[in-house]
Amino acid sequence: MSVLHIALVPAAGSGSRFGATAPKQYTDLLGQPLLRHAIARLARHPRIDRVVVVLSPDDTRFAGLDLSDLRPIVDARACGGPTRAASVLAGLRSLAGEVAADDWILVHDAARPCLPAAVIDRLVATLADDAVGGIAALPVADTLKRADTDARIDATVPRDGLWAAQTPQMFRFGVLLEALEHADLDHVTDEAGAVEARGLAPRLVEGDPANLKVTYPRDLALAAHLLAAMEDLP
Ligand code: CTP
Ligand code: MG
Repeated sequence: MSVLHIALVPAAGSGSRFGATAPKQYTDLLGQPLLRHAIARLARHPRIDRVVVVLSPDDTRFAGLDLSDLRPIVDARACGGPTRAASVLAGLRSLAGEVAADDWILVHDAARPCLPAAVIDRLVATLADDAVGGIAALPVADTLKRADTDARIDATVPRDGLWAAQTPQMFRFGVLLEALEHADLDHVTDEAGAVEARGLAPRLVEGDPANLKVTYPRDLALAAHLLAAMEDLP
């Protein structure tokens, strides 16, 4: 049997930087919550076998989402934790017994509603024979400045070899579970960081500038333009 590709969507955050009263993942974008866009991008991709959403134990909104136009491969578990890494780890633990160590987990932020199908294609194709996995990322294009405490430039930081991490972050289930079991869940900011800390070197796979993360309210307008312009939108 071939390995499965399982998308895991952590959606248990509060969106403190976004600052709305409702959690950010339920913010409306072109008539649908951010989270529903993220789920739909994954569930419509033919290489994705399942979509598992990790909710906050307090979530009251997910049950109200209409997912009936999607393949019936989406399920949610209210096992989210206090940090993103804790939520992902809880989601992985909830999958133990259902998936094999070699199956692929694609962790994707609920706050990234514009994931192009081609990014999933590249991850799946590039990593097919990889023992560990890798992440969608983009080489840093801008010149980087380090600020001093007065918002003046302290230094120019060489950008050679620097990439900005996106999601999906795609790892073998066994590798990712072991890495997060050992991680400092309060400080690890992405799955790759936990895997790196185990001495492994995840691959960098070309992401897409359209795959932005909605962090602040100002990001919504750009996300709306990108989503409306995406040709592969149903
Ligand atoms: N996330 C999660 N559990 C947490 C924190 C975050 O599942 N305890 C999820 C978010 O819901 C989001 C993804 O991780 O889909 C990326 O996190 P981020 O964009 O930082 O969202 P928030 O943590 O909600 O926002 P903020 O950091 O501004 O509070
Ligand atoms: Mg956060």
